[in-house]
Amino acid sequence: MGGAFEFAGDGTQAGTHMVEPAGGAMAWPLAQRAAVYRAIFERRDMRHFAGGEVATAVLHRLLLAAHHAPSVGFMQPWRLIRVRDAALRQRLHALVEQERQRTAEALGERGAAFLRLKVQGILDAAEVWVVALAEGRESHVFGRRTMPFMDVASAACAIQNMWLAARAEGVGLGWVSIFEPAAVAAVLDMPAGALPIAILCLGPVERFDDAPMLQQAGWAQRLPLAEVVFEDRWGRPCAWVGRAPNPRDLVAAVQPGCADMGPRRIVCLTEETTEWLYLLGQEHRIVGISGYTVRPRRARQEKPRVSAFLSAKIDQLLALKPDHVFGFSDLQANIAAELIRAGVAVTVFNQRSVEQILAMLAQVAALVGCSDVAAGHLAAMRARLQGMQEAVAQRLAAGQRRPRVYFEEWDEPLISAIRWVSELIGIAGGEDIFPELATQPHGKDRIVHDPQEVVRRAPDVIIGSWCGKKFRPERVAQRPGWSDIPAVRHGQVFEIKSADILQPGPAALTDGVEQLHRIITEWMDRHGHDRTV
Ligand SMILES: Cc1cc2nc3c(=O)[nH]c(=O)nc-3n(C[C@H](O)[C@H](O)[C@H](O)COP(=O)(O)O)c2cc1C
Repeated sequence: MGGAFEFAGDGTQAGTHMVEPAGGAMAWPLAQRAAVYRAIFERRDMRHFAGGEVATAVLHRLLLAAHHAPSVGFMQPWRLIRVRDAALRQRLHALVEQERQRTAEALGERGAAFLRLKVQGILDAAEVWVVALAEGRESHVFGRRTMPFMDVASAACAIQNMWLAARAEGVGLGWVSIFEPAAVAAVLDMPAGALPIAILCLGPVERFDDAPMLQQAGWAQRLPLAEVVFEDRWGRPCAWVGRAPNPRDLVAAVQPGCADMGPRRIVCLTEETTEWLYLLGQEHRIVGISGYTVRPRRARQEKPRVSAFLSAKIDQLLALKPDHVFGFSDLQANIAAELIRAGVAVTVFNQRSVEQILAMLAQVAALVGCSDVAAGHLAAMRARLQGMQEAVAQRLAAGQRRPRVYFEEWDEPLISAIRWVSELIGIAGGEDIFPELATQPHGKDRIVHDPQEVVRRAPDVIIGSWCGKKFRPERVAQRPGWSDIPAVRHGQVFEIKSADILQPGPAALTDGVEQLHRIITEWMDRHGHDRTV
């Protein structure tokens, strides 16, 4: 039951001063403060229930908690209806089911993924309660003249109170809002003007998950705190957010097992591990990065740059007193050897395929004690790739064909796509014209010795990503014989920045593959049905 918390990307870090009460003498004792945060961080929206019942005394406390919520002008707009009649429950369930189908249609490409989500537990929950806004709200002008929806905000506070109290009571609660309000109002004989906003499913559950179900399913991720907090102007960051002490430490103080672990002074010799640690909210562990790092942008400002790809400033690097160094590939073997001899722990990954990238990300996350948080991100990446494949399959079923894609990693000599790029081209809807080269791990083995071979393989799309150098499509078009290539004839020559696709980490599996998918599906829209291009 419960246990570790999900703090995905909240950007906070461990701090020893956490237990100091912010409010001085007015603050509660440590254990009580911890209990409040525990309820907040362990509350979950529940859709799976274990039958049973909720004792009347518990229900009574939950209702009191709801009724003690804040409300605009103290209007207390909430009305709570217990649904005991099994036939009524069935009708509510049917209304939700109806709206679920409509929502799926409205979601378009994501509709199928949405239908796989469980979005209600109306038939299984011990209790069903409907929360509605009372009629006659027009008379409440205080706080609602410019924002009449403050009544909904107030009722949401009541539901949140109930949600937190239910978690502390060990009772699961799920908020279902997928319904047509007028239909629910009619089922429950509500007066004109009353507005149902929630069907609450309530009852015993087998477990509370550590992370939101929608996160585990890869539907959405919690945003980093720094992304939603501004100072003075919209979009202007608030400097200390993300560096604030972590409330998790307060909870950990009374509940062992949530403490920070793993290396605390990491040097990342390549970009992908840096990006990943930032995504995990673990950037405070990084003490040095690669000079090529651009993701996230702020890493360049925040961290010393101590390495190129093939070389590193070993003295400077050691002066940072790293307790772990992450590297990539046999090309960094010499740097790694020097560091190991100097007594540093070094992990050098050698991921080449999409699966190997995902495995590397899971291993890095485990090293810094973030497996749970990582699982959500990885599930989201997998889900997006799967969604892309499904969208491509639909296009193929509708008679479109995959474009032949030539991906150029370097121009002098020509080097074609590395394995993960080749795989991502396939996932995004294309077909790599040099699949036999993609399996070669080393650039020298992916050289296209005869440029006329590209002409012969007649790619429909050419994508350049000249490893750190600006791509020049006009030069590609000027190569002898290349003006006959369909991609050149139809202006289908594009660049994807190497930072987005040639790093075997989060970038390639998110922004990189999205760009591939956009280029490829735009080609399919225009030429996918045309067999002669
Ligand atoms: C206003 C509101 C309406 C919601 N409606 C639904 C719903 O219809 N079905 C559902 O499965 N979850 C619903 N949820 C739950 C959210 O999906 C959930 O809060 C979110 O995914 C985060 O997960 P967590 O609550 O477990 O932290 C709703 C939540 C809110 C605040």
